[in-house]
Amino acid sequence: MSTVPRFVKACLAQPVDRIPVWIMRQAGRYLPEYRKLRGEYPFLTLCKTPALATEVTLQPLERFRMDAAILFSDILLLLEAMGVDLAFDEKVGPRLGRGESGEERVRSLSVPDPVQEMGYVLDAIRQIKGSIPEGCALIGFSGAPFTLATYLIEGGSSKDFYATKSFMYKEPAAFHRLMETLADALEAFLKAQIAAGVDAIQLFDTWAMILSPADYRELVLPHMQRLVAGVKHEGVPTIHFSLGTSTLLDAMDQMGTDVLSLDWKIDLGEARERLGPQKAVQGNLDPFALFQEPARLEESVLEILEKGSRWPGYVFNLGHGVHPKTPVENMRRLVEVVHSFPVPQAT
Ligand code: CP3
Repeated sequence: MSTVPRFVKACLAQPVDRIPVWIMRQAGRYLPEYRKLRGEYPFLTLCKTPALATEVTLQPLERFRMDAAILFSDILLLLEAMGVDLAFDEKVGPRLGRGESGEERVRSLSVPDPVQEMGYVLDAIRQIKGSIPEGCALIGFSGAPFTLATYLIEGGSSKDFYATKSFMYKEPAAFHRLMETLADALEAFLKAQIAAGVDAIQLFDTWAMILSPADYRELVLPHMQRLVAGVKHEGVPTIHFSLGTSTLLDAMDQMGTDVLSLDWKIDLGEARERLGPQKAVQGNLDPFALFQEPARLEESVLEILEKGSRWPGYVFNLGHGVHPKTPVENMRRLVEVVHSFPVPQAT
């Protein structure tokens, strides 16, 4: 009997017996057991203590039969390992640096040895792999170079990305160098995660949506292609996450990842048509669809399943992370509906 998890098979566009499902931020604030632990420890302590990161990663699996778990961590921890001060403020969100300018932060970056600087992530991966249910895959992840660049240059979240875009347009050569440095650090970090045992890698490019197709191709795509080629290991699929990027779909198709994660603003059937049967897709239910009453939720899930599963290579997910106010019962229903759906090309 094959031991390849159905989630990995779907990422590689191979036939599956059931459509695999996992949910972005499935371990998080909508779960009372997460809120309880968060009441006892700061967010960064949860991320940096392997036993706690393991406990949080596995929490949703005790309730739901997800086909994959995602390592509990954050994309910004790599920037800290590259020498930038990181804090999470309950009200304003992440803060990078201690009041230096964005350019000073960019100049101060170093490429860390992941074993030395991110050992707590690698230890968590090994612990999770020791206790994850049979058949459930573990997803490792990182930010993508562009999204990390925005946090680094802005010093946190931003509304208009003034500092990032000024830097990008005024100093394109320096911007390319920054993207290269980030991609080098990411490649080493992702290879270390693969060596520690993750079954797949997801690259989060949350802010790619602010770029024109031409700028995306010029400033981001070459760095993504190099990074993805660098981490392509046999049997460890790569997933690219973005949202609001249907205008960038053709460029993103050229990046080389096995899977593209899509949000609800693009019709899933149309996306599969445009990408063709070789490219696996993940998504794309609106996270707020989980606030509907159960019968309507079921209809929304079935509609997505029908569009996604017309060829092998489909992973059910939301288009972005689950909202903290989501009713837990609706998550249970969603997973049941996905798993009882008859796959047209079932193995
Ligand atoms: O999906 C998972 O559950 C795995 C863990 C994970 C977290 N962040 C935990 C987290 C992952 C994969 C991320 C990715 C991440 N982090 C992204 C890309 C995905 C996306 O959501 O667009 C980004 C942009 C970040 C940066 C970040 N981390 C911000 C802007 C914030 C504050 C906003 C918020 O949601 O609170 C975080 C904090 C964060 N990361 C939390 C969690 C569970 C909330 C922390 C808490 O419990 O207070």
